[in-house]
Amino acid sequence: MSEPKHLLLGLTGSINIVNVYPYMAALQNRFGCRMHIMMTPAARSFIPESTLIHSIDGDVFVDLSEKSGFKMPHVELTHWADAIVVLPASAHSIARVAHGFAEDIVSATLLAAECPVFFFPSMYIGMWRKKSVQRNVTQLREDGYHVFPPQSTNREFSEHPAGGSLPSPLEVVEFIEKYYNKY
Ligand SMILES: Cc1cc2nc3c(=O)[nH]c(=O)nc-3n(C[C@H](O)[C@H](O)[C@H](O)COP(=O)(O)O)c2cc1C
Repeated sequence: MSEPKHLLLGLTGSINIVNVYPYMAALQNRFGCRMHIMMTPAARSFIPESTLIHSIDGDVFVDLSEKSGFKMPHVELTHWADAIVVLPASAHSIARVAHGFAEDIVSATLLAAECPVFFFPSMYIGMWRKKSVQRNVTQLREDGYHVFPPQSTNREFSEHPAGGSLPSPLEVVEFIEKYYNKY
């Protein structure tokens, strides 16, 4: 499978969304891809979409019924995207996808998607370790999603448990590259 040229970024309501810009830059630089963004309502409560739009050459989708040139964004975005990256992935959004809920643009698009999907969870370590979260992550993996394992590889995550954490932009790119190198 060739590397993604159309990358859809899903933003959810983790505090680490405020650090998303270097990740957007790393993904666009490494894959030379076009990028659209979709955001949950909680994600928008952390950063407004107007601050993201200038960092991509695509659009920012924030609600299921908006048009922005697409009649049904949650369906057409899945036809457009070669890959979807959910970063940061909140516990709530992980739970939605694990259970097939589709109440916002991010979860509805993920439910409709057939391309590779990469999740980068970011949450307080206590949330991450909770059985319910681990069950949901296991379910995602069983369903064919690619979930970065923060607790085993991310030193910062365990050293600063109060804030949750993400892997570095380089680790994010390498995790995705590893998938494409296999095919
Ligand atoms: C200040 C603040 C920080 C939060 N940080 C996180 C976080 O890092 N990870 C997480 O999973 N949830 C976090 N939450 C809770 C989510 O925002 C909440 O569960 C929300 O419903 C997630 O919605 P979404 O998955 O639709 O984006 C935080 C909430 C607040 C108010």
